[in-house]
Amino acid sequence: MERLQKAIASSGITSRRKAEDLIKNGKVKVNGHVITEMGTKVSPKDIIEVDGNIISKEEKEYYLLNKPRGYITSSSDEKGRKTVMELISTKSRIYPVGRLDYDTTGALLLTNDGTFANIMTHPNHSIDKVYLAKLEGILKKEAIDRLKKGIELDGKTVKATRVKLKKVDSEKETCIVEITIHEGINHQVKRMFEKVGYPVSKLKRQRVGIFTLEGLNSGEYRKCTLKEVQIVYSYKEKKNYPNG
Ligand code: URA
Repeated sequence: MERLQKAIASSGITSRRKAEDLIKNGKVKVNGHVITEMGTKVSPKDIIEVDGNIISKEEKEYYLLNKPRGYITSSSDEKGRKTVMELISTKSRIYPVGRLDYDTTGALLLTNDGTFANIMTHPNHSIDKVYLAKLEGILKKEAIDRLKKGIELDGKTVKATRVKLKKVDSEKETCIVEITIHEGINHQVKRMFEKVGYPVSKLKRQRVGIFTLEGLNSGEYRKCTLKEVQIVYSYKEKKNYPNG
């Protein structure tokens, strides 16, 4: 059994908020009767009509996108910038799982399954997010130690669980670093490096949990496999969250 407004929203026709308005305004029938009471519970057997149309449950969809630079991670943008939604061809109301900045590239999941999104983003689940960052300056050991010990952002201590110097350009005084984090605070990687004195000039997410960019060029996407979705769901059951 689930709440009527949730059942309407999961059909994909509208948001939960708007579903509540439809119920209040007498536009929703369950098994032929108008329902205006918000807490009403329905089961999959109940027939729900919205404005005279019977709704059916939206199929769950899961995508992995290799996000290019120059797209915002949102469903719409008031400044008219391109959004990641434009890159995926679907009629379902999918949304991004977490966020990548406008100029950040790499692995981004999109789905219409709220449970899947919650598992992937819940801080207790410690899902690896692995980034490749190009830095101004050559990262010193003391800075690596600080990143691993913890940096304070927005009143919280966030940590890098792994930091690996991959490449150094001594002439240009830049370097490429692989950094793994578990949290997902806004602009976290850029702000962490900024705090230890190394501005980020390029950022790419290489992996999120078990999802890597293998086989995906920039701007390309694929559907996640049933096996991958099952693995993500298994974290919830086991309360055990392996990565990669
Ligand atoms: N950290 C950042 O600073 N930016 C991103 O896009 C993702 C993580």
